[in-house]
Amino acid sequence: MYEFAIAWEWLAFAARWLHVVTAIAWIGSSFYFIALDLGLVRRDHLPPGAYGEEWQVHGGGFYHIQKYLVAPAAMPEHLTWFKWESYATWLSGFAMLCIVYYGGADLFLIDRHVLDISAMTAILISLASLGLGWILYDLLCKSPVGKSTWGLMALLYLVLVAMAWGYTQVFTGRAAFLHLGAFTATIMSANVFFIIIPNQKIVVGDLIAGRTPDPKLGAQAKQRSLHNNYLTLPVIFFMLSNHYPLAFATAFNWVIAGLVFLMGVTIRHWFNTTHARKGKPTWTWAVTALLFILVMWLSTVPEILTVEERAETAPEFQRFADNAHFPAVSETISTRCSMCHAAEPAYEGIVRPPNGVKLESEAEIAARAREIYIQAGRSHAMPPGNITEMTDEERRLVTAWFESAVGETR
Ligand code: HEC
Repeated sequence: MYEFAIAWEWLAFAARWLHVVTAIAWIGSSFYFIALDLGLVRRDHLPPGAYGEEWQVHGGGFYHIQKYLVAPAAMPEHLTWFKWESYATWLSGFAMLCIVYYGGADLFLIDRHVLDISAMTAILISLASLGLGWILYDLLCKSPVGKSTWGLMALLYLVLVAMAWGYTQVFTGRAAFLHLGAFTATIMSANVFFIIIPNQKIVVGDLIAGRTPDPKLGAQAKQRSLHNNYLTLPVIFFMLSNHYPLAFATAFNWVIAGLVFLMGVTIRHWFNTTHARKGKPTWTWAVTALLFILVMWLSTVPEILTVEERAETAPEFQRFADNAHFPAVSETISTRCSMCHAAEPAYEGIVRPPNGVKLESEAEIAARAREIYIQAGRSHAMPPGNITEMTDEERRLVTAWFESAVGETR
């Protein structure tokens, strides 16, 4: 049913839309509160229990914010909690993982040159890695190492680099980076869900009951917030990376990932220090720039660059290769698309297959049937600006090919 391919594409867009919006809300509020927290000023006239205050101006009004370190003397009737920004980001992100990578496992998740596993095995590895990752992280934080802020951070860094390497040994480069982002983001969201919010609820409950809350709860939440602070920027990098094959589809992609985590720290350090009014550590930008240059250089290290083509058509795509329209479609793609979508593109200014999409062999064309249908059959997104003058008739041919091939298996 071709309607399914169309609905699937729209479902993916809807999930992405939601995911980006919720992520903006989460990261926005999280950055806002970090800066607010660091910028608080202590004054004499503050009410009992208040730790600091800040004046802000926004949207035509002035805000006077005061922070109570443990809690105010009396609990306010209405408290605004910040948790759904995080939960909704995780849920919509997980939905996208299912739609794009589990739904399109044969194309996007597994690469038989990396590891020859079935789609089901790959999905189980993906799910297990996310769940176990959180358990491992949580145990490390609660272990004796967890008492040392920087010792723990160094250890977590090693775990993340090991995961980066591990994912590249199992999945496609694109899925490896996406999973590294999902692995990290799952830790961040779980920090909110399992630690930060529950601890805060216990504190609120204690205060209402007139008990003194355990300061350990606050310290634990603060530790997790600190991790979230430093992990935010790398996560966004990994989530966006699937548009940039130089990042994910090159030989040293896992080293690049390791450097990106460091950039997350150097960039955040500048903002954290500045917001705390402790000076401007400009050196962090120099380090960030050096790291970025190193990343760019690593992406050009030659040879083992991208994975080889699959010579044979995978069984799941055989129906597209067997279809009566295929010879004509294959001919069309060769004339209209292959000058850009090749291992070595002939089109001037394009040095790598765009988005890692190669359309040279029949196997590649058959495997990309759904994408070709969406990009060049149903829509005219490709070729860009119709630069190779694909005709309407050719687009109808692509459409007929895909629709009849999926129709046959009904
Ligand atoms: C002039 C060069 C050029 C030609 C010709 C061309 N493409 Fe592309 N294609 C690109 C570029 C550049 C991108 C990356 C666009 C982006 O990242 O937004 C791309 C991306 C794609 C993608 C991936 C889209 C995604 O979102 O991941 C597909 C699929 C694709 N092209 C299919 C085709 C097909 C089918 C044809 C022929 C009908 C074609 N392209 C012709 C340059 C080209």
